[in-house]
This record gives sequence, structure tokens and C-alpha cells, in this order.
Amino acid sequence: MDRDPASTQMHEHKEKMKDQPSVLLTGNGAPIAHKTASLTVGHQGPLLLQDHVFLDEMSHFNRERIPERVVHAKGAGAFGYFEVTHDITKYTKAKIFSKIGKRTPIAVRFSTVGGESGSADTVRDPRGFAVKFYTEEGVWDLVGNNTPIFFIKDPILFPSFIHTQKRNPVTHLKDMDMFWDFISLRPETTHQVMILFSDRGIPDGYRYMNGYGSHTFKLVNDDNQFVYCKFHYKTDQGIKNLFSEKASKISSQDPDYSIRDLYNAIAKKNFPSWTFYIQVMTEQQAEKFKWNPFDLTKIWPHKEFLLIPVGKLVLDKNPSNYFADVEQLAFNPAHLVPGIEPSPDKMLQGRLFAYGDTQRYRLGANHLQLPVNCPYKNLSLMNYQRDGFMSVNNQKGAPNYYPNSFSGPEVHVAAKPPPFNVVGDIDRHEPIDEDDFGQVTMFWQNVLDADAKTRLVNNIAMSLSDASNFIIERAIGNFSKVDIELGQRLIDELRKAGKSINITAKSARL
Ligand code: HEM
Repeated sequence: MDRDPASTQMHEHKEKMKDQPSVLLTGNGAPIAHKTASLTVGHQGPLLLQDHVFLDEMSHFNRERIPERVVHAKGAGAFGYFEVTHDITKYTKAKIFSKIGKRTPIAVRFSTVGGESGSADTVRDPRGFAVKFYTEEGVWDLVGNNTPIFFIKDPILFPSFIHTQKRNPVTHLKDMDMFWDFISLRPETTHQVMILFSDRGIPDGYRYMNGYGSHTFKLVNDDNQFVYCKFHYKTDQGIKNLFSEKASKISSQDPDYSIRDLYNAIAKKNFPSWTFYIQVMTEQQAEKFKWNPFDLTKIWPHKEFLLIPVGKLVLDKNPSNYFADVEQLAFNPAHLVPGIEPSPDKMLQGRLFAYGDTQRYRLGANHLQLPVNCPYKNLSLMNYQRDGFMSVNNQKGAPNYYPNSFSGPEVHVAAKPPPFNVVGDIDRHEPIDEDDFGQVTMFWQNVLDADAKTRLVNNIAMSLSDASNFIIERAIGNFSKVDIELGQRLIDELRKAGKSINITAKSARL
């Protein structure tokens, strides 16, 4: 039987090297004469401290691991390009969109969210879909997911929310009480929870799912006028999902299913692509919008805000070194370029801080000098940042202070975004009356067919049945507010599974 490209990678290497045998060297580049025995006194040892070949190898090995990402630890990456197919220059001056046909190199990383870096790929979890655009004006990172919305709308809740997706600190086990306790106490999670437990909760690998920037951003044009905007990238392969049973079977047989699928598709030149769209909303439309346009738990209905085609994302190159190219990739929502700005979305604002901060810990202060993260042109004269661990960029002897009289880099006034006005009382504002259920009701009633509804009910009931009764009842209260039928069907399913639920959907809704 033919082996797939992922299984024959080392054969490829052997073939490539057949006419050029390489010499084994120490870290300082000196040839090594003997590799299979350490330097010892006699056959039985002990070892000598002067065995620098052993020390060089062992001390490097002892430092091989870096902290995994605190979320999205398991993932797959690839490279390719973004090509403009439609003109959106009336909305944005970002040079990446300046001309139809223009191509910009990209790096993409797909991921699951809650599991560790060794966890299974085919679990029920949102999928990360982060895109790094190496534009001529600097790196732009669109750090999105495969869902257009998210569980929460205030970043102060993110660490707590993520703790409930991870392990109980006492038992070191996943804990359904933690998960459903938080979810049921925060009704704004209901929309994303419904998507999570629907068929889209387990994509069949990374090629068959959409991506969304999810947040509201601002696009700014040459005249410094702005519109609000959302980014969508829709799979050209079509959507394909796995039902729960098949997904858990794959989890045990091939936990790296999605990484393997992506690598093999690209190696066989079956390059996956996505069509890139924007939705735009003017300031006036934002004022009249039925929901808060900056609320990450809501979508903008497509009928009202049409999808405008912009371009294509194509992945045509596998990483050549997973660690250097994918583990060290550092996506950061604060990496924006002129013409693309943040909106007031609180979650986005929180993320603008979190990523660079975690990356300075995970990868170090100079992680932006790593080849995979540095701007496309690897600008040699850039700014006034200097030194720190592993600095390699000396900025060509330019001064390290500003202002200066010695030809240090100067500001670029055209990059200035339009000013904007904010008013309001400074306070810790809880969401008030933000309609946690209206869009979820539409999803249940209008988007799902009968079979999809049944699978959704079964998936929720299966997970919820492992939580404590009072938490189950509170969760049913939320689902009943989506639709009485959904609440009642969950009660029926949970009773069938032996749970004694002391409410009806109607009473839970009150
Ligand atoms: C306040 C909310 C959030 C916070 C504080 C947060 C924080 C983080 C952190 C600390 C990482 C690890 C980054 C690294 O080590 O390089 C991460 C990764 C990631 N986050 Fe978030 N996150 C938030 C919300 C979101 C949302 C709403 C999305 C999607 C719309 C998202 C998508 C991702 C993705 C795709 C990654 C993985 C990036 C990669 O592949 O390297 N996050 N997040």
C-alpha cells in the first residue's frame, strides 16, 4: 500500500541528501568523531566533565520545550498567499487590498482551543483559524476562529472561562460541573454553546471549515473615512463535519488527524483555499443596529449586511520545521496595519494586550525578530527597541533614542487613523438587556433541520448529564429561553439518561 506524504518525509530527506553526505557537528560547529558512547573512565564509568560532546547535546535537549500556548496549544500550520479579486479601496487604504491580482504571502495556523499540545484533534471545541499577512506595510494578524461569535463579551471573564474548559486544579481532570456551572451562570454564552454542540462543533479536519475574524474592526480609506467591518473566510472545499461517534473513534485511532490531513493535502498539491469576504456597517447604521454592533456574542445578519467578496486565501506550502515555523508563530490582534483599526469591542480591546504579553513570556522579548514573525521585508532599520534575550537585529548602527539628529527612523504621518470621540461614565459596566437569546432562537428555528436539531439535543444532553442536577436545571432554564421545545427535549433526553429533573421547560423559562 502507498504511504502518504506525511509518513514518507524522512525518505524525501534521504533522497535529497543522497549526493551530499553531511558531517555531524557540535553546537559550536566542530566535527564529532564518535556519537554512540560517552567519555568514561574505563568500561564501567564514571563520566568525565570534559565530555563536551555529551554536555553540548544534553544541555540543549534539557531546554527543548517552551511553554505551550495557554490556549490553542494543539495546531497545524501552513503557508501560502492572499490574492485580491475585488476592489475594496473605497473602504480601506490598507495596501494589501490596493490592486486586483495583488498577492501577499501568508502564514496560517489552525488549532483546537482547550486541549494540551498532545491532545486529540477531533474533539468538540471551537477551532482557531489565525492568518498572518506579511504585507508591505508590516504584519497584519487576523486571529480568528471557525465561528463568527464567541462565548463571552467582556475580556475580564476570559481567564475564568478558559479555566472551566481546562482541568480541575485538584483532580487534574476535565470537569463538567466547572464547564456547565460557568456556562449556565452567563447566559450570553448560549449562542456559541449552541454552535459548539451543533454539527459544526467538530469539523472534519481544518480544510472543510470557515474562518471568521469574529470581532468588529474599522476600515479606514484614503480620505480617512471609516466603516465598521467584519471579516469572513469561507472554505472552497465545502463544509464537512464529523458526527460525535465517528469523531471519538478517530480521536483514539489518530489523535493527529487534522494535522495529517492538512500536511498530506498540501504535499499532494491539493491546495486548500478560502474565499475572503467583508461585511461593512456605517457609523449611522451602527447607531440604529438592533443589537450592540461591538458585542462578540452576536452576528450581523447577512441579509442586512451583505457579504462583499474581496479575495482568496490559498495554502500551498507545508512548514519545513514545525517548531520554528508553527510553534514559534506569534499571532497578535494588535498587529494591525494602516487602514485597519480596532473597534470599541471590549473583547478585541482585551486581546490587543493579551497576545504580545503572553508571547513575550512564551517566546521572549525578541520573538518578532524570528523569521516567521518578522515583517515581510525584514526591515533592518525599524524602531528604537533594542537588546534583550536573543536579539539579532542591530538596526544598522542607527541611534536608539528619539528624537535624534542622526537619521534614525522617522514617523509616517499618512498612517494616522481618524480621531474618534468617546463619551460615557467610567464604571464596570455589566451587560444590560442585551438580548442573549434572540439570535439563538433564529438559529434553532430557522437554520437547523429536524435531524440537526436532534443531534444538537443529544450532544448537549450527553455532556450536560455529567454535571450536578442544580447546574443542569439552570442550563435548561437558559435553553428554554431559546425555545420551549429545545428546553423540553433536553429534559426528556436527560430523564431518559436517568437524571431526575424537577422542572418543566415552561417553569424553567419563568
Ligand atoms: C479576551 C479574550 C481573549 C483572550 C484574552 C485570548 C488570549 C489568547 C492567548 C493568550 C493566546 C495564546 C497566544 C500565544 O501564545 O501565541 C490565544 C491564542 C489564540 N486565540 Fe485567543 N484570546 C481571546 C479571545 C479569542 C477570540 C474571540 C478568538 C477568535 C475570534 C481567539 C482566537 C485565538 C486563536 C486562533 C489563537 C491561536 C493563535 C495561534 O494559532 O497561534 N481568541 N488567545
